[in-house]
Amino acid sequence: MSMKILIDDTVQYIQGKTDFKPEIGIVLGSGLGSFADKLENPVYIDYGDIPGFPVSTVQGHKGRFVLGERLGRKIIAMQGRFHFYEGYDQDFLTMPIRVMKKLGVEKLLLTNAAGGVNTSFPVGSLMMITDHINYSGKNPLFGANLDEFGPRFPDMGDVYTKDLRVKLKAAANEAGIPLQEGVYMIYPGPSYETPAEIRMARTLGADAVGMSTVPEAIVARHAGIQVIGVSCISNMAAGILDEPLSHADVVEVTARAHNDFVALLEVILEKVF
Ligand code: HPA
Repeated sequence: MSMKILIDDTVQYIQGKTDFKPEIGIVLGSGLGSFADKLENPVYIDYGDIPGFPVSTVQGHKGRFVLGERLGRKIIAMQGRFHFYEGYDQDFLTMPIRVMKKLGVEKLLLTNAAGGVNTSFPVGSLMMITDHINYSGKNPLFGANLDEFGPRFPDMGDVYTKDLRVKLKAAANEAGIPLQEGVYMIYPGPSYETPAEIRMARTLGADAVGMSTVPEAIVARHAGIQVIGVSCISNMAAGILDEPLSHADVVEVTARAHNDFVALLEVILEKVF
């Protein structure tokens, strides 16, 4: 099935379940999904019930849309996302972002768990993404351009909208929520990086590494959606500490950082978006 038809069918499916019109999209990363439980008058749509839709295969990721309000804002949240390492092509795994756009989303918050490359970041801290390095080896805009969303060669000079970043920094500061900032680099995964790869990432200017977010951010910018990215630094990246990395630790640390994360999200909803 063509991507365009799949997007349109998914939009129709969701609009057949609810006439709620979201303005803000939120993608919840590993261990961060429970924010969606705070939405008022929620409508749940399981990915598995949507014809042709991908399914999330990762532990710590649920696999559904939750539509509802929080602080008077109309939100569509993804509880669980898709990753390149699951074997999905990047145009397919980012398809929900285009669905959100067609449902009316103008602003998107992308969250993830990431390994800290910048050694000054404490484990469990939150990082505002200032920019990214696409080291996934692919681009979600490969293939025929979907002109209805954006141009063939979209500008990527301001992926994580500068205005919103300035506002977020000030608002987090005012709320007393510590917020690091830096460059996020995607590695394809699913194996964690080697210590040499992390030294390379640092040399190239990365502050954090992860396996998501970049394809979604590219597709969102292509479609003219404004983006904020927040990483939870769930571990120091490979080789920094003398200990192996595990997904269980990643999920546990992000779950512990959850209160700060929710506080930051509320600041974003109230003062930034
Ligand atoms: N590397 C890649 N992805 C990650 C990491 C990491 O260290 N931690 C959480 N996601």
